[in-house]
Amino acid sequence: MSDRTPIIAGNWKMHRDHLEAIQLVQKLAYHLQADDYEGQEVVVCPPFVSLRSVQTLLQSDKLPIALGAQTCHAEDEGAFTGETSAPMLARLDVKYVIAGHSERRALFGETDDVVNAKLKAIQRHGMRPILCVGETLEEREAGRAVEVVVEQLRGSLAGVTLKDAADLVVAYEPVWAIGTGRTATSDDAQELCSAVRGELGELFGQAIAAGTRIQYGGSVKPGNIRELMGQPDVDGALVGGASLSSEDFALIVAHRR
Ligand code: 13P
Repeated sequence: MSDRTPIIAGNWKMHRDHLEAIQLVQKLAYHLQADDYEGQEVVVCPPFVSLRSVQTLLQSDKLPIALGAQTCHAEDEGAFTGETSAPMLARLDVKYVIAGHSERRALFGETDDVVNAKLKAIQRHGMRPILCVGETLEEREAGRAVEVVVEQLRGSLAGVTLKDAADLVVAYEPVWAIGTGRTATSDDAQELCSAVRGELGELFGQAIAAGTRIQYGGSVKPGNIRELMGQPDVDGALVGGASLSSEDFALIVAHRR
């Protein structure tokens, strides 16, 4: 198996203004020890208006936390009122951009084609996509979880080159587990993360599949992170609600203590 540095990312969604964002990162850094950052990547994804403030803090305090964004537009510039482009994010030292979060798919009409175009924009500007996939409860109950996730992967990754595929992070986030307190069992998470890896193998070959980091997301908490991270195909977590508490997110990051 290739080296897959675990990656723990906090997706703040539409929470915290820029002053609160600074405080949250300062408190997080206070709770973490140098060892906690060793051998894994820690990422925070604040709302757009806080990116600059958080970037400045991370740089001035030399914090080993990477900056992430929650989405971007597929075009580099243009008449797209309200949107933010990939090159703008790259200029802010954004390293990761979430693409295809289920909330964007469900509430903002993002299809696999849209996600695919965004993903390519992210890669074109030297950042790494965190591609989200996951089934709804209805789809799971109909026994279609793997099929849905495979279809999302194929659509979202169409035309992605082998070179770019090597920089990909995939987050398996079952929609029914997001913000519900209902985490997938570690067996379910493993089964679907393994299916994601299998499909990456079909699309890009075994070497890429074996080296791609796959996160689990959906009600990740300090109490369940260890078991999830213990699964062979789970290489990290994409954390929503619990990343808004500096104590909880620090406990999640420090899960090896
Ligand atoms: P919760 O951790 O709040 O369930 O959210 C998960 C998520 O959507 C992360 O992107």
